Amino acid sequence: MIGKPQLLELAEKYGTPLFVYDGEQVVENYRKLFEFIPYPGLKVHYAMKANYNPGLLKLLKEAGAGLDTVSPGEVAFALKLGFPKERIIYTANNMTDQEFEEVLETGVVMNIGSLSRLKKIARDHKGANICLRFNPDVCDGDSAATMTGGDLTKFGILLDSVEEVKTLVREGGLHVVGLHEHTGSGLQHVESVFRSMENLMRIATPENFPELRFMDFGGGFKVPYKPGEERVDYYKMGAGIAKLFTEFCKKYGRELEMYFEPGKYMVAECGTLVVEVNTIKHNRTRTIAGCNSGFPQLIRPMLYGAYHHIVNLSNPDGVPHTYDICGNICETGDRFAEQRELPEIREYDLLAIENAGAYCYSMGGVYNMRPMPAEVVVCGGKVVSERRRLTNAELAEQILGECR
Ligand code: LLP
Repeated sequence: MIGKPQLLELAEKYGTPLFVYDGEQVVENYRKLFEFIPYPGLKVHYAMKANYNPGLLKLLKEAGAGLDTVSPGEVAFALKLGFPKERIIYTANNMTDQEFEEVLETGVVMNIGSLSRLKKIARDHKGANICLRFNPDVCDGDSAATMTGGDLTKFGILLDSVEEVKTLVREGGLHVVGLHEHTGSGLQHVESVFRSMENLMRIATPENFPELRFMDFGGGFKVPYKPGEERVDYYKMGAGIAKLFTEFCKKYGRELEMYFEPGKYMVAECGTLVVEVNTIKHNRTRTIAGCNSGFPQLIRPMLYGAYHHIVNLSNPDGVPHTYDICGNICETGDRFAEQRELPEIREYDLLAIENAGAYCYSMGGVYNMRPMPAEVVVCGGKVVSERRRLTNAELAEQILGECR
């Protein structure tokens, strides 16, 4: 974690709002997974949708990580950054024919999550190597919107459809080199990881899928967002995972590779959004601290009701008061926190919105025509890469440049 003095220094140098990432910690999180999950054939494909900052991706590339991609745009970006195609997996859903062709040409393995798309590939791309995404039939995640298993989700092929899958694979002469499942994001119960693995492994017999090279068990590892929230015992979880998979491989008859594709676990805690307060308002029952960022730059509280811890960087010892921490967007729901106790907030105080490394910048936009904040990556106390903020004039030019 980057300390308060350095956050203040960076805010002074780069201005706010500013995303600051701890690049060393991201790489450390990647490396640690190999310690937590003691299986020799483990491969980690970072879910780049969580944060596609090029500085972070370069660090992960050097550390040996692969990438989980979900659009042809992400595939193109990953290849452009020099990730070898063998280290990329493409898990899109509701793929168009054009997206199919575009990614197929790159040689990146495609993960197919529906019978209707499998039919298309069996018809038009005979002999292709593919991975198949199944619905693990386990429901877990940190909000209803981030659960991807069970009856209410659009993701994956039902486990009950194995026979239909086999027929299509045979007809298309397809090579199923991997099986995949992803249960949800922010899994609340470690048991869910095990149960989903077991459900997928149950259909992964040599009779059903004789050509498997890997099994991919998705992402979703939970990280604490609230102070005092218990951290998952990753060692215990990893040992359980390795045991299950080793037993599975014995039954399968071959040692397969095991993939995981975490996003939040890798980057959530490694990012901070620093914002500046410009307005203090007493609205009868509520005191509002208004700052120079808003939900288009960090949407998780508004979209999922997610908790992000907020620290008063510049007045840490102030007398505590209760605030609504609001942004600068013309919508009432534009709040980072509601009724949150913080040391007294004054105009020009800097606040750190924590756990802003995953699904914050990457889910951002320029609603109300405010350019996205700058981003800096810090390693060993130094900024190793930066992405600047567009000026208002540049944003206008960019939009007009796209039009005729
Ligand atoms: N693999 C697949 C196929 C996924 O769909 C996802 C996340 C991951 C891996 C990585 O999951 P993670 O390890 O990051 O939990 N925007 C939401 C999270 C959406 C996750 C989408 N898929 C949030 O901010 O909570």
